[in-house]
Amino acid sequence: MVKKPPFVAGNWKMHLTMGEAKGLATAIVKVSADLAGAEIVLAPPFTALGEVKKVLEGSPVRLAAQNLFWEEKGAFTGEVSAPMLRDSGCQYVIIGHSERRQYFGETDDGVNRKIKAALKSGVFPIFCVGETLSERESGQTMDVISRQLQGGLDSIGAGVLKSIVIAYEPVWAIGTGKTATPDQAEEVHSRIREKLALKYGNGTAECAIILYGGSVKPTNSFALLSEKNIDGFLVGGASLEAESFVQIVREAIRAYKEKK
Ligand code: PGA
Repeated sequence: MVKKPPFVAGNWKMHLTMGEAKGLATAIVKVSADLAGAEIVLAPPFTALGEVKKVLEGSPVRLAAQNLFWEEKGAFTGEVSAPMLRDSGCQYVIIGHSERRQYFGETDDGVNRKIKAALKSGVFPIFCVGETLSERESGQTMDVISRQLQGGLDSIGAGVLKSIVIAYEPVWAIGTGKTATPDQAEEVHSRIREKLALKYGNGTAECAIILYGGSVKPTNSFALLSEKNIDGFLVGGASLEAESFVQIVREAIRAYKEKK
């Protein structure tokens, strides 16, 4: 297995005004020199991208958006395109988050178009997959994940996969306080890597960054990241406070150092 530095992204969802976002980003940047060895990404709401970009300038912390539309420009009221994100300083964009699938009707095909649009503009997708509780309870977890992976990565070649971060986020663990156990998460992560190996070959699959998301906290991040196939986190609630987010990054670095 190729060991990768931990990748920790904070998904701020629909939280924080510009001023609040600036304050949170500033607090994280202040300690970021201490957190060398991790790739840290912040995903504020669109309205705060500009403010947060200014704060991140000259720091190792990267900027992400939470969504995009696949067209480059045109009469699509309310939408934001990949070139616009690039122009706003985003290096990453979250695509296919379960909240977007659930509340805004995103389909695997739409996710695939968004991934391609992001890549075309040089913005790296953080591509989310995950099963609901009823899907897990009826034994369909891997069917769902396979379908989402297949659909999202349709006609995307091996050369491009290295620009895509995958996030496994069981829907039942998001914002619920119920974290998947390290074993549960590792089982799905290893299966995801197997699927990638089948499609892209072992070398490419081993290099893929696969994040876990769903109630990640300072207290569970060490055990999760100690798992072989867990390369980092997509953090929601706990990323809204500098202290807990930074602590998660520290725990991830500690686990990484001890990882074989
Ligand atoms: P949570 O959210 O950490 O609040 O569970 C994770 C996510 O939705 O990305």
